[in-house]
Amino acid sequence: MLRPTYPIKTRRLALRPYAADDLDALFAIESRADVCKYLYWEPRTRAEVAADLERRMATTTLENEGDALRLAVTLLDTGELIGGVMLAWRSVEHSGGEIGFVLHPDHHGRGYAGEAAVQLLRLGFEDLGLHRVFARLDAANRPSGRLLERLGMRFEGRFRENEFVKGAWTDEAVYAMLAHEWRDLTEG
Ligand SMILES: CC(C)(COP(=O)(O)OP(=O)(O)OC[C@H]1O[C@@H](n2cnc3c(N)ncnc32)[C@H](O)[C@@H]1OP(=O)(O)O)[C@@H](O)C(=O)NCCC(=O)NCCS
Repeated sequence: MLRPTYPIKTRRLALRPYAADDLDALFAIESRADVCKYLYWEPRTRAEVAADLERRMATTTLENEGDALRLAVTLLDTGELIGGVMLAWRSVEHSGGEIGFVLHPDHHGRGYAGEAAVQLLRLGFEDLGLHRVFARLDAANRPSGRLLERLGMRFEGRFRENEFVKGAWTDEAVYAMLAHEWRDLTEG
């Protein structure tokens, strides 16, 4: 079980639960074609984002297998919402979790996604006690792959054309980190 204390502050960011007045900022991100290029969905309408925001607001703890923690990534200085991160509890038996992230393109290239994602790994390994955390992505999504490599996650493999997304077969890449690798990284 994971019930973090919010906000989670980093050097430049605060991660916090979503609130109803995040709709405009979330829509500004989720309605963009460039943001959705490597995601499973097409740019979302305002109504779709509003429905998704309701779900995000309800997922601030991990109680059971299958739960996914959804957090808004905001700038510490201004409070501006610049993206979102996700930590899912995929398996109790195998002690596995999954991470994901999306940033507004105006804020790419500054290390914000990495700064937020490290907190997901910390929550997963140190607070939830996971054994393995993985990330899955379209293998063509190099910005995301580079980010996972910077985090110290291992490239585990590329599954050729194993998903049919938006009318085309796509390769899926998997990256992962084990608890002892996290300890080596943070204590070593
Ligand atoms: C995936 C995504 C979050 C990565 O964003 P990003 O800005 O490239 O990642 P970071 O915030 O870690 O920034 C890293 C970049 O900032 C640069 N940078 C600048 N200042 C930095 C700092 N202080 N610390 C770390 N990196 C810094 C790095 O060199 C790196 O540049 P590079 O990728 O050209 O080598 C972004 O591309 C995105 O939102 N894409 C759309 C949604 C998506 O595809 N999500 C992933 C689904 S699997």
